[in-house]
Amino acid sequence: MSTAYGFREYGGPETQQFFDVAVPFPGPGQLQVAVHAAGVNPADWKVRAGTRKDTVPVTLPAVLGREVAGVVTAVGPRVADFAVGDAVFGATATGYGGYTDHTMLNASSTAHKPGSVSFADAATLPVAAGTAYDAMSTLNLPAGSRLLVIGAGGGVGVAALQLAAARGVSVLAVASRSKRDVVESLGAEWVESGAGLATRISEPVDAVFDLVGGDALAEAARLVLDPAAIVSVGDPLAARDLGGSSVERRRTTAVFAELAALVASGVLDPRVTHRFQLEQAGEALALVESGHAAGKVVIEVG
Ligand SMILES: NC(=O)c1ccc[n+]([C@@H]2O[C@H](COP(=O)([O-])OP(=O)(O)OC[C@H]3O[C@@H](n4cnc5c(N)ncnc54)[C@H](OP(=O)(O)O)[C@@H]3O)[C@@H](O)[C@H]2O)c1
Repeated sequence: MSTAYGFREYGGPETQQFFDVAVPFPGPGQLQVAVHAAGVNPADWKVRAGTRKDTVPVTLPAVLGREVAGVVTAVGPRVADFAVGDAVFGATATGYGGYTDHTMLNASSTAHKPGSVSFADAATLPVAAGTAYDAMSTLNLPAGSRLLVIGAGGGVGVAALQLAAARGVSVLAVASRSKRDVVESLGAEWVESGAGLATRISEPVDAVFDLVGGDALAEAARLVLDPAAIVSVGDPLAARDLGGSSVERRRTTAVFAELAALVASGVLDPRVTHRFQLEQAGEALALVESGHAAGKVVIEVG
């Protein structure tokens, strides 16, 4: 049996607890993995709260977390590219979670972890960096463009700033004052978040990547030259109403391998700022649920 942290019913943090789970031998296309690190994301508490029932089916009790890095302990039928003992990272298979010592991955959403990339960094790539990568692909901005990122100091934001800079895109990073140093260290121009955002930006922008929604997105929409160049995972419905779109996610081996290569070559640093042990999983998720995390939060196992 594995020790896991999750929730027995939909609701608030009071529904969270430790329990034991069985991780069976992997089915076709699956990998059983001993978890070394798990990424912590806003999606985790949103799944627990029941707001993702339509897109993330769970069987209760459910293990929290959607991404891990670890070592393969068993390989299911029809898996060609992975073997027991491989260091890997990926998105957890439907019905499995990340806050545990063993979990299941689909081989199609798993990549090998380069030796120079830590388990903690690799564990953060499928969700936050993957979303930033897919957003940059959706926008496909040429070098010299101006991109406004709202919520720039969080997990997705810090990755977006670096991936945009690698394309030669100049970034205006909307973040609170506490995250000014972080976004400036990533080469972006800091713009203080809060009411009146549009009045603090003098020139139009070519695109907006929104991680917050609400008034900030509405204000940013007034600055963009073409509303079709608004993409949002903070409030995709509002973005669509403004003429923009959501981000089409590609949780594939190819995308994850590319992200790992970018970390290995020094282009991308996921900026892991807080590390917790599995026994502290509740504290880790509470930090992310506060809505004010900087960079990435990781749970290390073992
Ligand atoms: N659909 C998908 O596939 C997908 C994937 C990843 C993330 N998401 C969503 O994207 C959002 C961001 O994710 P994340 O992992 O980056 O979250 P995060 O690490 O918690 O960061 C959120 C950031 O937003 C900032 N923020 C909060 N209110 C703000 C405001 N009014 N103006 C500007 N910044 C504000 C916070 O910084 P301050 O405290 O400094 O304000 C924080 O740094 C979440 O809603 C998440 O669910 C969706």
